[in-house]
Amino acid sequence: GSTLREAAADEGGRFYGVAVNDSMLSNSQYANLVAQEFSSVTAENVMKWETIQPSQGQFNWSGGDRLVNFAQQNNQKVYGHTLVWHSQMPGWLENGNFSAAQLRQITNNHISQVVGRYAGDIERWDVVNEAFNEDGTRRQNKWQQTIGDGYIAEAFRAANAADPSAKLFINDYNVEGINSKSTGMYNLVRSLLDQGVPIHGVGLQTHLILGQVPSSLQQNIQRFADLGLEVVLTEIDIRMQMPSDSSKLQQQANDFRAVTQACLAVSRCTGMTVWGLRDGDSWVPDVFQGYGAPLLFTDSYQKKPAYDAVLSALGGG
Ligand code: G3I
Repeated sequence: GSTLREAAADEGGRFYGVAVNDSMLSNSQYANLVAQEFSSVTAENVMKWETIQPSQGQFNWSGGDRLVNFAQQNNQKVYGHTLVWHSQMPGWLENGNFSAAQLRQITNNHISQVVGRYAGDIERWDVVNEAFNEDGTRRQNKWQQTIGDGYIAEAFRAANAADPSAKLFINDYNVEGINSKSTGMYNLVRSLLDQGVPIHGVGLQTHLILGQVPSSLQQNIQRFADLGLEVVLTEIDIRMQMPSDSSKLQQQANDFRAVTQACLAVSRCTGMTVWGLRDGDSWVPDVFQGYGAPLLFTDSYQKKPAYDAVLSALGGG
C-alpha cells in the first residue's frame, strides 16, 4: 500500500486514523489528505460533552454529523470520543449540584442520546476517558465523587444498551508502558469483565516524548489483549523540544516506527490513530511550553520522516 490506510489494511485489516479538527474540514487540502491517508477519524473536540450537550437537554449534532458524513463519503470508520470525562464538561454539568440519582439520570440520558444517534455509524466509543490518577487509584472526578466506583460499569451498560454493536473502550494517557497507572486500569478492566460488564477494548492514548517510547509497550498491549480485549493506540503524538532539527526528526521517525511495530506485534491491537494531521494542528504547543512538531505532516502538508517510518513499518511504501 502506498498510503497509511492501505498499508494498515494489509496488516490484518487494521485501521490507521487521525483526529480531525472540525474547523479544518472545509479546507479542501486538509480534507483531501485526511481522506487519502486515513481509514478512521476521531473528532478532536466536537463529540465531547461541552459541544454536544452545551445546555441540559439541548443537543448540538452539527459537528458530529459533519464528521460522520465525511467518513461515510470517504469509506472511513469513526472512533467516538468521548462520553464520560472530567474535562470539557459544559458549565451546567461541571457546576451543577446533583444527587447520585440525578447524575445517573443525566449521564444515562447523555450516553443513550449520543450513542443512539450514531448507532451503526460509530464502530468504537471511548466510554470513559482518563479515569485514573498516576498511582493507579481512581481520579476523583464528578462521577466518582457523586456516584462512586460503580459509575464506570454503569456508563458501559448504558452505551451497550444504546448500541449493542458498538465496541466500548476505556481510554487513558500514561498507560502505554507497564506502570502503576496501567496496572490500575488492568485490574479494573479485569474486574469489569468478571462482572460481565460490556467492555471490549482499551485505548492507550500514546502522547509520548521524543526518545521515550516505553520499553514495555508491546508487553503492556499484550497483557490487555490476553484478557480478550482489543487495544487501540488512540491519540498518538511524539513531541520534541523546539526548534526541531534533522536529528530530532530522525529520532521521531524511529520512535513512531517502534510504536507501530509494538501494535503490529499483537493481533488484537486493531488500530492506531494520530492526534491531529499537521504539526500546527496539535494541542501540544498550547499545553507544553517549548514543545511541538509531534505529528506526521508539516504545516504545508508535507510528509515528515516519521510518516515514512510508519508507512514502512506497516509494510507499505
Ligand atoms: O472553542 C473555543 C473557542 O471558541 C475559543 O475562542 C478558543 C480560545 O482558546 O478556545 C476554543 O476551545 C479550545 C478547544 O480545544 C477547541 O479548539 C480550548 O481552549 C482548548 O483547551 C481545547 O483543547 C483540546 C483539549 O483536548 C481540551 O482538553 C484539544 O483541542 C484536544 O486536542 C485535546 O484532546 C485531548 C483528548 O480529548 C483526550 N486526551 C488528551 C488530549 C490532549 O489534551
